[in-house]
Amino acid sequence: MCLNSAMTSIKVSFSQADFQPRAEQLAETLGLQLLAASPSADDPHDYCLNLGPQGLSLVPATSHSHGPIICQFDSGANSHRRKFGGGNGQAIAKAAGVSGKFKPSVVDLTAGMGGDSFVLASLGCKVKMLERNIIVFSLLEDGIARAAESEDSSLREIIARMRLLSGDARSYLQDSMADDYADIIYMDPMFPERKKSAKVKKEMQAFHQIVGADEDAAELLPLALERARYRLVIKRSASAGYLGDVRPSYSLEGKSTRFDIFAQRKLPD
Ligand SMILES: C[S@@+](CC[C@H](N)C(=O)[O-])C[C@H]1O[C@@H](n2cnc3c(N)ncnc32)[C@H](O)[C@@H]1O
Repeated sequence: MCLNSAMTSIKVSFSQADFQPRAEQLAETLGLQLLAASPSADDPHDYCLNLGPQGLSLVPATSHSHGPIICQFDSGANSHRRKFGGGNGQAIAKAAGVSGKFKPSVVDLTAGMGGDSFVLASLGCKVKMLERNIIVFSLLEDGIARAAESEDSSLREIIARMRLLSGDARSYLQDSMADDYADIIYMDPMFPERKKSAKVKKEMQAFHQIVGADEDAAELLPLALERARYRLVIKRSASAGYLGDVRPSYSLEGKSTRFDIFAQRKLPD
């Protein structure tokens, strides 16, 4: 597991005393320092991974930079998209070949905050997710754990289709059995950071700072192509070139994103 930036200092904190034992445990697991209850000026940090009643969140040290980053499946954008996002008509569903009859098994090599995996799981797909960044992994793991205990049984059913694994997707692909195919392999590596503009939300800038630019993403291509039974789907920004300059079978173009599809064989009828 990795933590990208040596320049980004992250400490673990807790907002109420009863979260202290879990915070101590998390700090030890992640190899991070626990923030003192009353931090002094010589206890500098850029972010806190904070445990509190809402769950685990990443909080910037300076309150004016952006709000907490937290993984929520029962509210906000994920929940809104599940209810009103357009079901199988969404571009990601078309890219992955999801239909009323076909609910492919998916391996998401770049889970991030789990948004895309959640959409696919909401549409009935079983999704295995890989995440190598320990901070992002912890946020996602916590979001999944909270959603798994939701009072909403349909949300619990979706979450039960999602399985999160920690570690690098390349090792996962290398270590999986030669005949261990997923119907669809999906990836959405970080894009190189654009110039800091109003268009790039502060949360996204923070994500960039913590995760980096996934410069090695193209190295996943050969193995991913080998292990995808039907398709490899790569999400790109609309203006980005093909990953590794490898031309896909075709693309689904949207306003800001594009799905490059490598079709290995015809989807089942
Ligand atoms: C742009 S984010 C993915 C966002 C995600 N699709 C979502 O909807 O939230 C890319 C993520 O992939 C992870 N990642 C990149 N390369 C990886 C690899 N080889 N193995 C595991 N995780 C990887 C990064 O750490 C980052 O969290």
